[in-house]
Amino acid sequence: METKKWNEVSPNAILIADKDIIKQILVTNEFPKNKKYESMRLSSVTLLTATDIKWHKQRRKLLSSAFSTKYLDSLEPLIQSVIKSLIKKINVTLDVDSNDSNGTVINLAKLIHECTMDIVGETAFGGSFKMIENGDLPLIRKIFEERRRRSLVSSFPILKPFKPADPDLLKNRRQNSRREDLLQIMLDTQQGEEGMTDNEIYNQIIEFLFAGSDTSSFTITMLFAMLMENPTIERKLVSELDEALKDDELSHKKLKPLTYLNCPGKVTTKDLVLDDVNEFIPERWLNPDKIPKDCFIPFSAGTRNCIGNNFALMVIRLLTSTLLKMYRFEYISGQDMDVVQYLTPNFKTKRYDIRIWKR
Ligand code: HEM
Repeated sequence: METKKWNEVSPNAILIADKDIIKQILVTNEFPKNKKYESMRLSSVTLLTATDIKWHKQRRKLLSSAFSTKYLDSLEPLIQSVIKSLIKKINVTLDVDSNDSNGTVINLAKLIHECTMDIVGETAFGGSFKMIENGDLPLIRKIFEERRRRSLVSSFPILKPFKPADPDLLKNRRQNSRREDLLQIMLDTQQGEEGMTDNEIYNQIIEFLFAGSDTSSFTITMLFAMLMENPTIERKLVSELDEALKDDELSHKKLKPLTYLNCPGKVTTKDLVLDDVNEFIPERWLNPDKIPKDCFIPFSAGTRNCIGNNFALMVIRLLTSTLLKMYRFEYISGQDMDVVQYLTPNFKTKRYDIRIWKR
């Protein structure tokens, strides 16, 4: 029986499940983005919402240096400083609550989300939001409420417009000394002829915030959920980390070449159909000939692929490995794992509880 290649999900939308058709749309024919993306904008066009191909190409070129491997390496100390704050918070909770036999239950989804938000704050907003320390921030809450509203705007355009202006952000940076981060790269474009306006910079930073935090935090939380359900796989990953890091400082340079941590990282040259796609089997990526070619496209493909791909992988590697090196985790059964999707997927309950001990 032939597998169905797409499904109609509404009168104007189809969901495609065929990798060759997806490749044709994203890469071979480079279909332009749907005009609906325009209604997702706040007060200026951004990378994700651009529909004009020429404008997008120019802007993408301007910002690509901010996501080069070399530049991302220079952001590692900022990312590590946020991860340290997370560890400090977890350790305080453990010191207060934990006893050797029962450990402590934490909401991992919330902690990781606060951490990825603070990482984007530290690397793109000019300073951490300190969500880890404070748990909330009114400006961020406002932006997130707006983001949810905007996923409705594409269906009900009458809800527009909204402008959560924060003029102090750029003013403060100009008054203070230079800091090597994404905000600085965007401000530096203003020296050239086709530089970004203040308003464009502000909107682009907000886009980095919601494109870069929920996506990475849900990926990490889901990875932990999968590891908890598959203790053999968890043990194998922890052994790899222990062996590679021994007593050394944990750094991205040491994590990047690890084989098991970096599944999936290989590609095959053959076309194959898998019948165990829903199983969590990292090993499948170690055997390229058993994986259909071009089947793994979480960051999209072609000219509109994710500009934050390497940034996300770096954060995922650092955060996951630090947690696995420092703590022992235990599965708590019976949790509601239903997923809802606004712009990005998330657990309906916004929780993933896990029992934790220091190693
Ligand atoms: C696990 C983490 C991530 C995943 C799975 C992911 C996935 C994606 C996907 C599928 C797209 C294409 C969206 C579309 O065509 O509508 C995209 C675009 C984009 N992503 Fe990500 N992303 C992640 C992390 C990040 C991070 C960390 C940043 C920035 C700090 C980021 C910034 C962007 C931007 C700006 C675009 C638009 C690019 C363009 O059109 O030129 N993403 N991402």
